[in-house]
Amino acid sequence: MFQNLKFQPEDKIMALMTLFLADERKEKIDLGVGVYKDNKGQTPIMSAVKQASNILNNKQTTKSYVGLLGNLGFIDKISNLVLADAVPQNRIVGSQAPGGTGAFHQLLLLIRSMGKDQKVWISSPSWPNHEAIIKHLGIKFDNYFYFDEQTCEVNFPRMMSDLEKMDSGDILLLHGCCHNPTGANLSLEHWVSLTKFCEKKNILPLIDLAYQGFGDGIEEDVKGVQYIASKLPESCIGISCSKNFGLYRERVGASLLLVSDKKQRKLAEDNLKSFNRVTYSFPPDYGASVVDIILGGNDLKSQELIALWKDELNGMRNGMLELRKLLSNSLRLSTNSTRFDFIEKHRGMFSLMGLSFDQVSQLRNKFGIYMVGDSRINIAGLNRNQIEYFSSSLASVI
Ligand code: LMR
Repeated sequence: MFQNLKFQPEDKIMALMTLFLADERKEKIDLGVGVYKDNKGQTPIMSAVKQASNILNNKQTTKSYVGLLGNLGFIDKISNLVLADAVPQNRIVGSQAPGGTGAFHQLLLLIRSMGKDQKVWISSPSWPNHEAIIKHLGIKFDNYFYFDEQTCEVNFPRMMSDLEKMDSGDILLLHGCCHNPTGANLSLEHWVSLTKFCEKKNILPLIDLAYQGFGDGIEEDVKGVQYIASKLPESCIGISCSKNFGLYRERVGASLLLVSDKKQRKLAEDNLKSFNRVTYSFPPDYGASVVDIILGGNDLKSQELIALWKDELNGMRNGMLELRKLLSNSLRLSTNSTRFDFIEKHRGMFSLMGLSFDQVSQLRNKFGIYMVGDSRINIAGLNRNQIEYFSSSLASVI
């Protein structure tokens, strides 16, 4: 019966994870999948998460179903974390989703069912799973120029000249912050221009927000998202709590739709519910309830928990910023050039290093250094005492 199946296209990040696990060298370094690691190479459970899990375990009295949209308290709190008071609460329609990928998928189902012939425009490059999911759902797409390999920054004029080709009703996929894979981000001025552009051309923004708090700050990282959401009548945001709450395997996320028209809000909510029902019925509850407790209410314990979580997240970010500085200094010395200075300017977990596929392979084969084939590194995969080894290895292959 299964002989007609075909092997599916490989996801390069997942394939790299398998290769890394099979490598027996002690000195191997995993700069592949986007998972935060501390200086001991561990991905710890955050203390705020541990405490909130204990509270949840003690207070939960049933494991019965919650509802098709999931935990509504969680949705309110996560919307508030992202949007604060930029958007009136009653414009937001939300559904809990299994991780940022689940949120993205459900938002695309909704976009597909809007029934028009619209295209989703994806940055070049982008997270490979964006295109994979869009293709899988049979949605049309196109790419827009984003990253300038010479300057290692966003080339906004070229981006805008590609976006001019968009048609009214098309969808613009943006990374809310900490662009994956490049590490090069849009400035607030860019978001302002994009907002005007979307308004003028009737473009619907679809924002993937997976790294809030990993760039410049918990509030700073969502300024652009808040701006666009507050100015346009409609937008879609897919949120992931995998990274900023370290809840990777619990699959915690949310799909938000910002809709001005009251009738359309009802329609949007009905559709989100129904898509959940036919995809997985109820979104997974546990992780979302943990986040709900952390983002909590006004009582003393909640205030303690949120402060603890912020502290831990700020610590992770500052650690990554320090690694960026150390790495770019070390590469200056080992390559005797300023070629890699951009690492210090990039934000989030990733930087695209601008190495060839062959150089990436050499680093893996000769030195056990694993980065994605397009030369994306996960900065948090490095620890301080591996920086020199990494820099001298890199210098030897370029
Ligand atoms: C990544 O880009 O490495 C992460 O978002 C993890 C994933 O699912 O690919």
